[in-house]
Amino acid sequence: MKTACKHIGIIMDGNGRWAKERGQKRSHGHEAGAAKVREITQFCSDRGIEYLTLYAFSTENWKRPALEVSFLMKLMTKYLKNELPLFIANNIRFETIGDLSLFSPALKKQIAITKEATSHHTGLTQVLALNYGSRDEIVRACNALREHNEPLTVELIEQHLDTSSFPPVDMIIRTGGDIRLSNFLLWQAAYAELFFTPTLWPDLSIDEFESILKTFAQRERRFGGLN
Ligand code: FPP
Repeated sequence: MKTACKHIGIIMDGNGRWAKERGQKRSHGHEAGAAKVREITQFCSDRGIEYLTLYAFSTENWKRPALEVSFLMKLMTKYLKNELPLFIANNIRFETIGDLSLFSPALKKQIAITKEATSHHTGLTQVLALNYGSRDEIVRACNALREHNEPLTVELIEQHLDTSSFPPVDMIIRTGGDIRLSNFLLWQAAYAELFFTPTLWPDLSIDEFESILKTFAQRERRFGGLN
């Protein structure tokens, strides 16, 4: 079965190596990564993709040096402030998945402002995965269901995942050369098409992104059934 690509997930890996290749600090790589987020978001919006979920900060990323973590927090706050005009001009809605409780009041406030200002938009939904990890998401869903007296079902668990209001993830792309999902959308990836490219995230071109979309369009998806 051929299906339209409504929902793309991306593991944006390789910012640090991109900076190192240029003799720059890792923070420059993250800045270049944020610029790529803007470019790919604009492209997905123009192409009529409905959902773009980006792995921006994982539950494991807190293990990085404190300086890098605080740089990423400030960068994300700045990104959200700067992006609002783009979201408004392109009818883009902003959403998040993950546990936001650990973030600074400034970042939480900017997230809330951006969600509120774009909640009525009907074009692309950009979803940032922030302090997100699939195992944490599934544990939170199970805890929310603890008082439930009926046996659990796939549907019931799905209704309690952070992605409950989004369509299924059709494809997951990982840049940066590693072939793993690193705790990103593990449940949702059950029937997603997977793409891995050695290209570092800040180097991902629109041409390469389009060619991944073309390959997706040629894939036969059977979802466990027969043709
Ligand atoms: C991996 O690169 C990337 C991240 C830890 C997070 C992604 C962050 C961005 C794309 C920039 C900020 C995002 C937004 C939404 C403004 P890495 O540091 O692991 O790279 P490496 O594997 O080469 O070291």
